[in-house]
Amino acid sequence: MIPRTKPEVVAIVVAAGSGVRLGREVPKAAIEIAGIPMVTRAVQAMLGGGVDRVVVAAPETWVDRFASSLATFADRVKVIPGGLMRQDSVRRGLAHSGECDIILVHDAARPLVPPFVVDRVIEAVKDGAAAVVPVIPQVDSLRRIRRSLTVAADRSAFLRVQTPQGFEAEVLRQAHANSGDKEFTDDATMCEAIDVPVTTVPGDGLAFKITEPMDLVLAEVIARGES
Ligand code: C5P
Repeated sequence: MIPRTKPEVVAIVVAAGSGVRLGREVPKAAIEIAGIPMVTRAVQAMLGGGVDRVVVAAPETWVDRFASSLATFADRVKVIPGGLMRQDSVRRGLAHSGECDIILVHDAARPLVPPFVVDRVIEAVKDGAAAVVPVIPQVDSLRRIRRSLTVAADRSAFLRVQTPQGFEAEVLRQAHANSGDKEFTDDATMCEAIDVPVTTVPGDGLAFKITEPMDLVLAEVIARGES
């Protein structure tokens, strides 16, 4: 249960992925968008949306560099080494999350997430949801692969999941403790595996994940337009 007095909210920003798919030598989260590294933008969005403290999971050899680029927020941000897979990075973040009531998990690869989405996720957990995901509608038509053919699928039956995802701290800790070596694409799925219902809130197009080089171009244009 979340206490009625002001609950402590921690965000784990997973930023330990490589930049391989973007064709870069530096880790993806270190890439600058309109002069500001993705990881810094992600941290700013968390703090702007009502998070009290942030744990950043960085690539092992980049911990010091990430910490110095986040030095302005040093009293509220801790940088730690991430793990091999995303869920390992979250797990390491959990080990450094300290005493708190609500935990958000956010991809640094979604640097333009608006703070109001962060706030919306926190509020849903405060209102009693144990696991919360921001979602947006599926805009493309979908086809399901069936043997060597494909058949039309009803796109209104699907939603696209973004981050930050929000959790009662104990629920997320339990989900990770129970997950063993099984691979999960996100933390809400891990909670569902221990029968925790997942609540949705509206996400936002700006929380898109930077994966391909074209996504970087789009993010740059949007960020320049905002500054
Ligand atoms: O690779 P992808 O973009 O799906 O990764 C999602 C997020 O997970 C990114 O922010 C990435 O930095 C993070 N990640 C991580 N540790 C890993 C792999 C990915 O923190 N081992």
